[in-house]
Amino acid sequence: MTARLIDGNALAACVRGEVAQRVAALGARGIRPGLAVLLVGDDPASAVYVRHKVADCEAVGMRSLLERHPASMAQAELLARVQALNADPGVHGILVQMPLPRQIDPLRVIETISPAKDVDGFHVANAGALMVGRAGFKACTPYGCMKLIETTGVPLRGLHAVVIGRSNTVGKPMALMLLQANATVTVCHSGTADLAAHTRSADIVVAAVGRRHTLRGDMVKPGAIVIDVGMNRDEAGKLCGDVDFTAVREVAGWITPVPGGVGPMTRAMLLVNTIEAAERIGPA
Ligand code: GUN
Repeated sequence: MTARLIDGNALAACVRGEVAQRVAALGARGIRPGLAVLLVGDDPASAVYVRHKVADCEAVGMRSLLERHPASMAQAELLARVQALNADPGVHGILVQMPLPRQIDPLRVIETISPAKDVDGFHVANAGALMVGRAGFKACTPYGCMKLIETTGVPLRGLHAVVIGRSNTVGKPMALMLLQANATVTVCHSGTADLAAHTRSADIVVAAVGRRHTLRGDMVKPGAIVIDVGMNRDEAGKLCGDVDFTAVREVAGWITPVPGGVGPMTRAMLLVNTIEAAERIGPA
């Protein structure tokens, strides 16, 4: 069996089209949704991500506000910038690009962002809302993964989902979203004794570890849905995920490629959260 590809680029284009319509509808009411993106330091990968986020905003007609700050920026200074953006009625979403320089505590920064503008879904108020099943902003990567899984049309109720990775930004919220969709969820991590024993019984595997070839062909149940969140480089410097794509695609039923799978959907869901923030808050 060769797995069907889940096309993240195509789905993200669809989502952007829907967001653009919502931006236009808000525009007719005199509201222009605005996303503030803060980049501290000069990490080259972060600079690329941020550029993409800004370009995505422009593409759907949103206003984007990019702030670049030096790597030496003091934490108090960054917190003051966040507070100023919290109070700015023209800014509906705030994103502080991670990682931050060592002198800045990322949790302090996240906690300073108003939950109503936390379009990353990282604030404890939004993470808590997900946990108790209340409305809130959902973290963009797992939110995008759920949309990718939905395109298979497979009902999740009663299925066994295995999430590999337990980060606050992907693994934990992913597990909660799958649980909310009535899957039976196992979370595996670096301390898991026998990863393959779990993944072999999984109908859905989400790999979010940051290590290539974490999921091999012999670890996958035939027909399973495999979502690859990883963004790694192979020896040749080529982008690859956490899944051994060549081997796993011969066993799985559906699989996301890297690139072109989860990445574009993470970006698309940031736009969804931002338009939602603007729709909730109303006119500036
Ligand atoms: N760095 C890498 N991915 C992300 C993300 O989704 N949000 C933020 N704020 N920083 C990141």
